[in-house]
Amino acid sequence: MADLEEFVRSMPKCELHLHIEGTLEPELKFRLAARNGVELPYRTVEEARAAYDFHDLTSFLVGYYQGMSVLVTEPDFYELAYAYFERAAAEGVKHAEIFFDPQGHTSRGVEFATVIKGLRRAQLDARRVLGLHSQLIMCFLRDFQAEYAMATLLESLPYKDWITGVGLDSDERGNPPEKFAAVFARARAEGYLLTMHCDVDQENSVEHIRQCLEDIGVDRIDHGVNILENPALVEEVRRRGLGVTVCPVSNRFVTDGTKSAELKRLLDAGVRVTVNSDDPAYFTAYVTENLLTVQRELDLDPKQLVALQRNAIEASWAPPAVRQAFLDELATLG
Ligand code: HPA
Ligand code: ZN
Repeated sequence: MADLEEFVRSMPKCELHLHIEGTLEPELKFRLAARNGVELPYRTVEEARAAYDFHDLTSFLVGYYQGMSVLVTEPDFYELAYAYFERAAAEGVKHAEIFFDPQGHTSRGVEFATVIKGLRRAQLDARRVLGLHSQLIMCFLRDFQAEYAMATLLESLPYKDWITGVGLDSDERGNPPEKFAAVFARARAEGYLLTMHCDVDQENSVEHIRQCLEDIGVDRIDHGVNILENPALVEEVRRRGLGVTVCPVSNRFVTDGTKSAELKRLLDAGVRVTVNSDDPAYFTAYVTENLLTVQRELDLDPKQLVALQRNAIEASWAPPAVRQAFLDELATLG
């Protein structure tokens, strides 16, 4: 058991479902709040942590957006991302695909350029100093109008070379994938890859997954474990080789458990299912802790743990050289 834990800690890792704003630890939140003159609704780091008492997606999102208010300048975004990269590199992450929510910032008057320039600078430094490769995925907030998403897409085009794909997050209730069909069609035409959140146990979860696959034509699905309710859709994601990014500890916070059993069923069905951390500062578990959680719950052996990482890099949007280097490193583990 101790050996298995060491195996998990030391294996190379690929993270595909990580919101950079969800890596804002309370300590940095306080530091940035002081620097920018932003008032927080708690006085200490301990009080902030105690307030992370989420029971569903909506209650989590309230705290998540409130936390963003301390992010104002380009160095703020740099520090946020670089702090994550340092931590991830220490956990063995070699490749990370990072969501960012530009509308969480432009809606408060922070410019798109400020956000992406800070993130980009941190990515370059992480690659150079830490050896960690990363890519950006720009998410649209689904509880805003589709027109705002389209405007954000157009605003991103001068930075197209810095962004690999687009995603969809925030409150799913009443905001189906089809609401954004035109935005995602345009994104694809601009050369972006496509993913979307299909959060766990939502109203119409399965219908939203169907829309993603049949109407939008996504390249990946985020969360998405409710797909098991429709075996034909499971067969379709398997056939297409699409990644399904499961976030076990996040699930425990926003629904009724980690959904490890569902993860195992997807793994056994031959779906490219992966283990990820979502919003680790809020759910207090980075990728290693998520992997340890499923290892314990499912009693996974090293072969299955390696299979999860192989799934992740194969489902990733990493360039061939990064992918091959990762696979070579995994191969040394057997
Ligand atoms: N789901 C929806 N919106 C989000 C999430 C999530 O997992 N994390 C940050 N915004
Ligand atoms: Zn997410």
